[in-house]
Amino acid sequence: MSTGPDVNVVEPTVSVLLDPGWAADSLISDVRRGLGSQPRTLPPKWLYDDRGSDLFDQITRLTEYYPTEAERALLAAHADEIVQLSGADTVVELGSGTSDKTRTLLDAFSSHDQLERFVPVDVSEGTLRTAAHELSRRYPGLKVEAVVGDFTLHLSNLPAGGRKLVAFLGGTLGNLYVEERAAFLGALADSLAPGDCLLLGTDLVKSSDRLIAAYNDPSGVTAAFATNCLSVVNRELGADFDLDAFSFVPFWDPHMERMDLRLRSETPQTVAVPGADLTIELAAGEEIRVEISTKFRPDQLRSELAAAGFALEQLWSDADFALTLSRRTP
Ligand code: AVJ
Repeated sequence: MSTGPDVNVVEPTVSVLLDPGWAADSLISDVRRGLGSQPRTLPPKWLYDDRGSDLFDQITRLTEYYPTEAERALLAAHADEIVQLSGADTVVELGSGTSDKTRTLLDAFSSHDQLERFVPVDVSEGTLRTAAHELSRRYPGLKVEAVVGDFTLHLSNLPAGGRKLVAFLGGTLGNLYVEERAAFLGALADSLAPGDCLLLGTDLVKSSDRLIAAYNDPSGVTAAFATNCLSVVNRELGADFDLDAFSFVPFWDPHMERMDLRLRSETPQTVAVPGADLTIELAAGEEIRVEISTKFRPDQLRSELAAAGFALEQLWSDADFALTLSRRTP
């Protein structure tokens, strides 16, 4: 693609829907609710500070962690069909990060001269601003309307109009619990017009050996990623979790068909969390769940989508991962 003079570059807009105190307030309430009671849990969004985002980036390059490459290949193979079937002129990406993989899709849209607007949505303002500027330079004429927001809270505030394709990639849907998933898909459907499309990337159920290997790399990157959320609590809320006392326990829950990632305190510890006005007594062997990663079956995807108001039109998959295109029903 030629760079040339910036004559056609449309400056991106960035709307901030999160209040300045949002991160602090929601961390405090998540820590009180999740760490202050049993079973102990912490929502996975706290895994992604700068260091956590960097560790996740390293995870995506591990040979054991197949989802990223599988999804990238499916996107590359089917981008033209996605453009044509969706008929969209606006692409919205939820949890966009650097929009790295999405470029494959944006390239296909621009070669069909079909894309007017790209709306990346992410909680990380810095990453989003950088990505928005890069994208408006890479795709001259494209309106980039970035939204700093939480995709579980701000779906009703997304820019109106246009024929939309909402991309929710990477298997992130699997981080939500069953009820959260239904609520999220329902709210997403409510925010769209009939005919708008959803492009969803989801990881598939497979052998537990393969799954455990993908979440338990021998180099310890995934363990460091999981443990990082306690460093976030130590730093942001002045807590004193003894990180060295934890071991990483990833296991496959065959009943719920999800990976369940936990940190186990091998020794008892009394943890002060002054920023949340909380003291936590962890017994030896007590575990904190820091993430679930649900794996799906094609029939289940079809029925969960239908229940939310999306008709599944295409499912592309390899043995590992699925990309689905579904349409908001009238
Ligand atoms: C980014 C949520 C899709 O669940 O596979 C990777 C996060 N956690 N290794 C996933 C993750 C541990 C990832 N998602």
